[in-house]
Amino acid sequence: MTPLRVFRSLAVAEAITWVCLLAGMFVKYAVGTTEVGVQVAGPIHGVAFIAYCLATVVIGVDQGWSRGRLVLGLAAAVPPLATVWFERRVEKLGGLDDAWHSREDSPTAAQRAVCWLLRHHRQAIVGFVVAVAALTGIALLAGPPVG
Ligand code: HEM
Repeated sequence: MTPLRVFRSLAVAEAITWVCLLAGMFVKYAVGTTEVGVQVAGPIHGVAFIAYCLATVVIGVDQGWSRGRLVLGLAAAVPPLATVWFERRVEKLGGLDDAWHSREDSPTAAQRAVCWLLRHHRQAIVGFVVAVAALTGIALLAGPPVG
């Protein structure tokens, strides 16, 4: 999987789950029949949100994004569909491509850490899943930010 494909997949997944959550809210508030849509789409969107944010940090470091671009990428997870807009914009500006850039002799410690993750692919995937699950658990214990 290239950085472009990973990031695009998660940006689209985050946007789709946001739309599902909005549909659930429409049924809950406008139609007023059931809250099931929100109860199902809420946690799924939460997982997609956390996975997108984690991937944004790793891929942003790998692709050498500025701090401002990284923050914008994270902020794009909040408004509906903004992750897709952000992914297209960054790709157009040449900040997201098909090659991983992190090397063992990269200038920053963060990029060298990403290089380690790329070389330990299996552990990286397991670590990613565990981190998403742990952060989801913490967020659920803390309570949903809305509602
Ligand atoms: C910026 C990020 C997030 C936004 C903007 C957001 C937004 C929302 C909104 C608008 C709702 C519908 C609330 C309602 O009117 O009933 C909702 C529900 C929910 N969200 Fe999030 N959410 C975010 C992150 C998360 C995270 C990280 C989690 C945890 C994994 C999470 C878990 C939930 C759950 C469980 C519900 C369903 C609540 C219920 O059963 O009524 N959300 N979220």
